[in-house]
Amino acid sequence: MNPLAEKLNSVLPAPILDALSKKGRTAFFPSAGILGQAAQARGRQINATIGIALEEDGAPMRLQGLDALFQIDGREAFPYAPSFGKPGLRDRWQSMLREKNPSLGKTALSRPVVTGALTHGLSVAGAMFLDPGESLIVPDLFWGNYRLIFEHAHGARLDTYPLFDEGGFNVAGLRARLFAEPPGKRVVLLNFPNNPTGYTCSPAEAKAICGVLVEAADAGCEVVALIDDAYFGLVYEDGVIEESIFTQLATAHERLLAVKIDGATKEDYAWGFRVGFITYASSSADETVLDALAQKTAGVVRGSISNASHLSQSLLLAAYDAPDYGAWKAEKYAVLAGRYHRMREVLAAHPEYAERFQPLPCNSGYFMCVRPLAGEAEAIRRHLLSKYDTGLIATAGLLRIAFSSVPTASIADLFANLYAAIGDVTD
Ligand SMILES: Cc1ncc(COP(=O)(O)O)c(C=O)c1O
Repeated sequence: MNPLAEKLNSVLPAPILDALSKKGRTAFFPSAGILGQAAQARGRQINATIGIALEEDGAPMRLQGLDALFQIDGREAFPYAPSFGKPGLRDRWQSMLREKNPSLGKTALSRPVVTGALTHGLSVAGAMFLDPGESLIVPDLFWGNYRLIFEHAHGARLDTYPLFDEGGFNVAGLRARLFAEPPGKRVVLLNFPNNPTGYTCSPAEAKAICGVLVEAADAGCEVVALIDDAYFGLVYEDGVIEESIFTQLATAHERLLAVKIDGATKEDYAWGFRVGFITYASSSADETVLDALAQKTAGVVRGSISNASHLSQSLLLAAYDAPDYGAWKAEKYAVLAGRYHRMREVLAAHPEYAERFQPLPCNSGYFMCVRPLAGEAEAIRRHLLSKYDTGLIATAGLLRIAFSSVPTASIADLFANLYAAIGDVTD
């Protein structure tokens, strides 16, 4: 094992070290190699260490026409960003994370490491904590790409439990999965608002979820909670958690490591920017431990994408620093919330729809799902396309409706088409 990895491992408490995969254990940030030597040469009169091209005046080299396309200092876009991410952005994201989750208070958090958005963040977390053949506990309704990320790329196994139980989060199902095997490592993925259902749990459910994870940790399990907060902040009903469940898990137990995976993709409507973050917290993790985890994480980033887009990171940091940032966000939130409430109005105005489809619990996010009471989801989807010019996603016997992308004025037609299509298919 590389001595740098050994050094990082030496500061990790046993429950965290035991929870790492083989890759996670051998991961380190190569601070002593090219990057370390380049860091030592920074600011020198002649610095021939930088792996990019510079102009004669020392500015990053760039094509004139490309530079002219955007209004940002080329130095904030053309050179590489660090593998850890742009320092100012990491700090800004951490302070925003505290603002958005006030109950974190002064809880120790790692400095967020920037990833190539959430997909990459999830994959980096998979590399850190899952060996081939190991299990990832997820509800049965999950973002389909988890299969490619965790099963295909990391060889892990998705162990599912039914997401819903009597109209709410199935805490008993999660508990049964956690206790299905003798004590050992348990990697759990939580995603609120959920894709595909648009469900976020209530405060009581969040407390109960925390409770069963703590129970597993008390029983001797090393618990890693991967928290996919892709749709964080998009909550449209009262009685639903508004802060991330990360806040509760961050200090829940010394054998529980909370891993927050989030980013600008959906929170800031910047899907193509590819900027996400990984942040750690645990009651067994002080600053040294959190820094060791961040270094390992940056090592995995370095070995996969090297570093995330500098341009995207700089644009986001400029937006976060703008005085109107909060107002810009509120404006877009209002559009999505408006569509959600329109959807509720339409469903309430058409009790007959309940004869043909049943909406699943939904209170947040981009999506809602309905279960057709007759007919097969895929056949209904195809019929909706061909006869009603309406596109939905068929998944797990359900139809997923992305209300996030439907103009408010079309929402009534969407449900009318769905109702008619189910009738056609089952007549
Ligand atoms: C639950 C969930 N997690 C993660 C992602 C991936 O986000 P990103 O585009 O930042 O990789 C998505 C995207 O659809 C998602 O629905």
